[in-house]
Amino acid sequence: MPAPVPGELVRVAALADIHYSKNSAGSMAPLFEQIVEAADVLVLCGDLTDYGLAEEARVLAKDLASVKIPVVGVLGNHDFEAEEQKEIAQVLGDVGMHLLDGDAWTYRNVGFAGVRGFCGGFGRGALGPWGERIVKDFVHEAVEEALKLEAALARIEMPNRIALMHYAPIRDTVEGEALEIFPFLGSSRLEDPLMRFQVTAVFHGHAHKGAPEGKTQTGIPVFNVAHAVLKSNYPDRPPFRVFEVHTAAESTEPSVTPVGDRRHWGRRATDRAPSSS
Ligand SMILES: [Fe+2]
Ligand SMILES: [Fe+2]
Repeated sequence: MPAPVPGELVRVAALADIHYSKNSAGSMAPLFEQIVEAADVLVLCGDLTDYGLAEEARVLAKDLASVKIPVVGVLGNHDFEAEEQKEIAQVLGDVGMHLLDGDAWTYRNVGFAGVRGFCGGFGRGALGPWGERIVKDFVHEAVEEALKLEAALARIEMPNRIALMHYAPIRDTVEGEALEIFPFLGSSRLEDPLMRFQVTAVFHGHAHKGAPEGKTQTGIPVFNVAHAVLKSNYPDRPPFRVFEVHTAAESTEPSVTPVGDRRHWGRRATDRAPSSS
């Protein structure tokens, strides 16, 4: 891998919820070809399989084997359905995918921290650890995932930190789903580490009918890259998004620009028009 250069640009393609089934062989191959042309790294934010079967992961692994750029990602709730998540991770790891579960991985000047995340709701509506043991255990899972995310972010030494998760860390990007299921789509407990470490951007999936973009309370951009969200919000484009990550140089902060959009998301939350066009 070439040495990192301060201030360079890394193109990150992001996608989630591809839900590979036993019959999906080749279904994403044309899309993966386009991604390889458009980006330096591919991020996959969970629900890689439909029923959580290792057999489904093997179908995906075959298609991923032709992706000649690094692939990094996390598992989603569907990948746990059959309790074959360890085998799924092994199968995808064997074709070179970097699956993160409280770990960090670095590409050039950019550090990626990933967890699956969990649910429990947002803000004042978040479920608290009170009452029955089973409620406490449920909340504990979200707290554990947030702690894992924090530990992973702490391991990244460079200022360019990208966070990956399956569940949503904020309410904004689940807007569009039925209000009744908001608490099952994510947890704002995942938001605290993002703000503490001032990550450059966050990618997640899970909310198939959610909104593509939102911000943390401190203005960090959060992108819901679920396949269905991209298809419905950007019907004139192939269903993946590419983000130019402008890594930090001596005098500049990291920032991220979605390719094809006329916006530039600085770490401090300001949407600025790009200087050209
Ligand atoms: Fe999904
Ligand atoms: Fe999901």
